[in-house]
Amino acid sequence: MLVKIATFLLFASLCIAANSQEPLSNVFNVPSSSDAQQLHLSSLGSDSFTILNHSRFPNHRVRVKKTQFCDSTVNMYTGYLDVDAGAKHLFFYFFESRNDPFRDDIIMWINGGPGCSSSMGLLMELGPCNIDMSSTSKNGTLWNPHSWNEAANIFFLDQPVGVGFSYADFGETIQTTEEAAKNVHAFITIFFETFTQFSGRPLHLSGESYGGRYLPVFASEIYDQNVITKRESRPEINLQSVIIGNGNTGISTLYPGRYEIECGTAALETPFQFISTCVRMKMALPRCQQLMKDSCLDQFDMINCRAAINFCDSELSTGMWTSGRNVYDISKMCVGDDLCYEENTAIKRYLNLPETRALLGVETPKNFTPCSPEVGENFSLHMDKYNTPTHLYVAGLLDRNIRVLIYAGTFDWQCNWLSNKLWVDALEWRDADQYRRAEWRDWNVQGRKAGEVKSTPLLTFATIRGAGHMVPHDKPEEALAMIQRWLKHESL
Ligand SMILES: *[C@@H]1O[C@H](CO)[C@@H](O)[C@H](O)[C@H]1NC(C)=O
Ligand SMILES: *[C@@H]1O[C@H](CO)[C@@H](O)[C@H](O)[C@H]1NC(C)=O
Ligand SMILES: *[C@@H]1O[C@H](CO)[C@@H](O)[C@H](O)[C@H]1NC(C)=O
Repeated sequence: MLVKIATFLLFASLCIAANSQEPLSNVFNVPSSSDAQQLHLSSLGSDSFTILNHSRFPNHRVRVKKTQFCDSTVNMYTGYLDVDAGAKHLFFYFFESRNDPFRDDIIMWINGGPGCSSSMGLLMELGPCNIDMSSTSKNGTLWNPHSWNEAANIFFLDQPVGVGFSYADFGETIQTTEEAAKNVHAFITIFFETFTQFSGRPLHLSGESYGGRYLPVFASEIYDQNVITKRESRPEINLQSVIIGNGNTGISTLYPGRYEIECGTAALETPFQFISTCVRMKMALPRCQQLMKDSCLDQFDMINCRAAINFCDSELSTGMWTSGRNVYDISKMCVGDDLCYEENTAIKRYLNLPETRALLGVETPKNFTPCSPEVGENFSLHMDKYNTPTHLYVAGLLDRNIRVLIYAGTFDWQCNWLSNKLWVDALEWRDADQYRRAEWRDWNVQGRKAGEVKSTPLLTFATIRGAGHMVPHDKPEEALAMIQRWLKHESL
């Protein structure tokens, strides 16, 4: 079982993962310009999808319907964005804010993997409802009072194609983050151009785990395309910030961070790993770092980089896998399926129910799996995690005044907080000196210490004490407070 877990995870480089009062026409205002679809959206049905066409994007269309899923206190919609001449279909869930949908910012959330569905984040972490593990609810979910739609309008996107309910007509796939960025940019552009109620609204890209690689690339694509859009006097996307939870952004610091989590006091007061294992790891670490530097970082070489990673994983990760602990939360043992949480299996079962699929309007016969091994495999074949240093995108965004929040639960091993701190500390960008000089301080929620934080006006690094990889799952109240403060430009 453990070997199976290890193989799957390593191979997939898995570092994860209305009854409203307002008439619908007010929410999704359709413009009367000649570009966009002329449609009275108040006619949007809940039985079937309405198809929205857009003349500027003849290769794309949106299919959307209103439905009663997860949160009955707000309007919610599901649908597909059909991209690339309609051959690829990206599934999304959109929830209005519980606060002020007409004025609140918009958040996009994506899970990592690569290959994991964003419905995992929705139903297990920060969504308006969570999967019911107590079997007390008639509808399979429980309302989440700490959902991030307390503070913003939010959509969850299953991407890249092949993930979750997203599918391709001819089985085409996306193999790299850079390719995925093109589809995500198309999705976001059409979203804002179709639902003009939201045009110009501040947008924040958020996610976790492999999102640490996705999000800086996606945000950079949006930023760069905005430059072109502006030149052509078309509406720009008001990208404001990038929010990454337990991300794998800086791969050069991954293994030293993991060593400190297992064998140092970065997570627990007393190291949990065997002394003998720690000694072996300590001895392998310089060689692992050197190999990675030579063949992944200084100069990327597919074959040598793969060999380096194989060496690092075999010497530095095996001990963790054999410990039986949850790699996403070292304070727990691994339970349930491959992903170490019972929720995964429950969500899979729930999203495969015919009733749920009908409610959502799922239009692919394919079974839902929390993470697509094929997508993970294909990203891995391209060494996507290693072939472009993602932290350079973060620096580029910061230098152009896009705010960045890097947060991390301290009990995660996979994409642990220390690895993140190390790359953020070393990041070369305009205000790097200011960041270096900034003081660490505690941040609190309801008078309790939530973690530690260091920030400049543009860059914030925050830990969440006692949370694992999936911070909103472990510390829902703290996670929501963090987001509320971030959106309001308050310090944590
Ligand atoms: C958009 O185009 C499709 C076919 O291309 C059509 O079936 C649909 O009715 C159009 N949508 C609207 C609202 O006109
Ligand atoms: C599902 O049931 C729970 C508890 O039984 C309830 O709180 C929630 O509002 C329901 N969700 C929907 C969408 O009706
Ligand atoms: C993976 O990539 C191969 C070759 O590029 C392709 O044929 C295959 O369909 C892809 N599989 C999936 C499901 O991603």
